[in-house]
Amino acid sequence: MKKLIKANDLVFETFISAQQISERIKILGKQIESRNQDKKPLFIGVLNGAFMFTADLVRACDLECEIAFVRLSSYQGTQSMGKIETVYGLEMSIEGRHIIVVEDIVDSGRTLNYFLDFLKKQNPLSVELASLLLKPDALKFSVKIDYLGFEIADKFVIGYGLDYDGLGRNLEDIYQLKENG
Ligand code: IMP
Ligand code: MG
Repeated sequence: MKKLIKANDLVFETFISAQQISERIKILGKQIESRNQDKKPLFIGVLNGAFMFTADLVRACDLECEIAFVRLSSYQGTQSMGKIETVYGLEMSIEGRHIIVVEDIVDSGRTLNYFLDFLKKQNPLSVELASLLLKPDALKFSVKIDYLGFEIADKFVIGYGLDYDGLGRNLEDIYQLKENG
C-alpha cells in the first residue's frame, strides 16, 4: 500500500524510498571518488532543489574537495529566445578547477544546458554533472550526465529537496504525482 501525502491541492504517492536513494548515492559517491582522486574538485550544488542531494553526495565521497552553491534565476525575455538565466552565488574563480555540478533533476535540460555552458566559458579543467533524477522523455536540450541517480517517467515528483509550490522539500522519500488523485 503506497503512502499518500498532500501538498496544497495535489496528492502524491511514495515512489523512491529514502533507503533506495541512500544506496544509490553510496555508489555514485564511490564513482566520483575514484575519478577525482587528487583533483580537489569543487562541487557546485544548484539551489534550492539540490541542497539535500548535495549534502548526502559529498558525504559519500572520501575526497579533499570544496563545496559551493548557486541559485539560477530565469525570466521571460522579450525575444523569441525565451528564458534567460542569471547565476547568483558563484563568487570564486573556477579557472583551472575540476567542477562537479550537483542537480536534483534534469527535466527539459534547459537549466543545465545553460549552466554547464556558462561554467565551461570560465576555463575550468573539467566540468562533470551529477543529477539525482532524469526524465528522459522530457529532454529537449542536450545535457551529459556523468553520475545519474535514477531515470524516471515524465511525471511530477516532490521530496528529498524537490518541491511543488515550495512544499515537500523536507520529505526524506521521493513522491510522484498520483493519477486521478
Ligand atoms: P529543466 O530546466 O527543464 O531541466 O528543469 C530543471 C528544474 O525544474 C529542476 O532543477 C527542478 O528545480 C525543476 N523540476 C523539473 N521537474 C520537476 C519535478 O518533477 N518536480 C520538482 N521540480 C522539478
Ligand atoms: Mg533544480
